Amino acid sequence: MSQIKAFLFDLDGVIVDTAIYHYQAWKRLATELGFDISEEFNESLKGVSRMESLDLILAHGGVTLPDEEKAKLADQKNSWYLELVSRMTAEAILPGVATFFSQVHKAGLKTALGSVSKNAPLILERIGMTDAFDVIIDGTKISKGKPDPEVFTKGAAELGVSPAECVVFEDAVAGVDAGKRGGMFVVGLGSPDVLTQADLVAPSLAELTVDEVLSKSE
Ligand code: G6P
Ligand code: MG
Repeated sequence: MSQIKAFLFDLDGVIVDTAIYHYQAWKRLATELGFDISEEFNESLKGVSRMESLDLILAHGGVTLPDEEKAKLADQKNSWYLELVSRMTAEAILPGVATFFSQVHKAGLKTALGSVSKNAPLILERIGMTDAFDVIIDGTKISKGKPDPEVFTKGAAELGVSPAECVVFEDAVAGVDAGKRGGMFVVGLGSPDVLTQADLVAPSLAELTVDEVLSKSE
């Protein structure tokens, strides 16, 4: 019998491909500031909060700005991002998610969303997945972003389970680290060359079954 009682999911890049929209919006901002960000650099932004991402981008471009200016840029990026998100429908749900979630619910596992995004509830509503989660922890409910484990430890606490009873699903290096630091089994979704700290790696949820995850996490 597996001791696992709950699955904790990141949103961007796990449930839905908003990671690409974040990248497009940040790239647009960087271009306006006179430099470029690569896809490789973007990996370091995944799972990182809006203001921390902006700080990393400005440092990357060698730009220093006062706080009010930074707040304006973060707002600008967010409105570009929301323009892209507003066109999103359930079609944006990543392959394999629906099948995987029906297995999760059938197995009687609890579910939590663990996203640093302040836009997470809006995105879940747009794709019609709000009810798929027992607990939703988003960027408005935490004080520390990934790789701090807060987003996942809070989810576990609200579900009433211990970290050792949780599996985290993550596409970001910072998110994998957050799950590991929280004392959880972490499934990395992406490349094993990037997600080196994950306990198990698959390209996406489409290549996994709940039984497989439960047996590997024992
Ligand atoms: C997620 C994404 C990050 C994003 C962060 C904050 O963790 O992976 O790329 O920066 O959320 O998102 P927000 O929607 O609040 O700007
Ligand atoms: Mg992600």
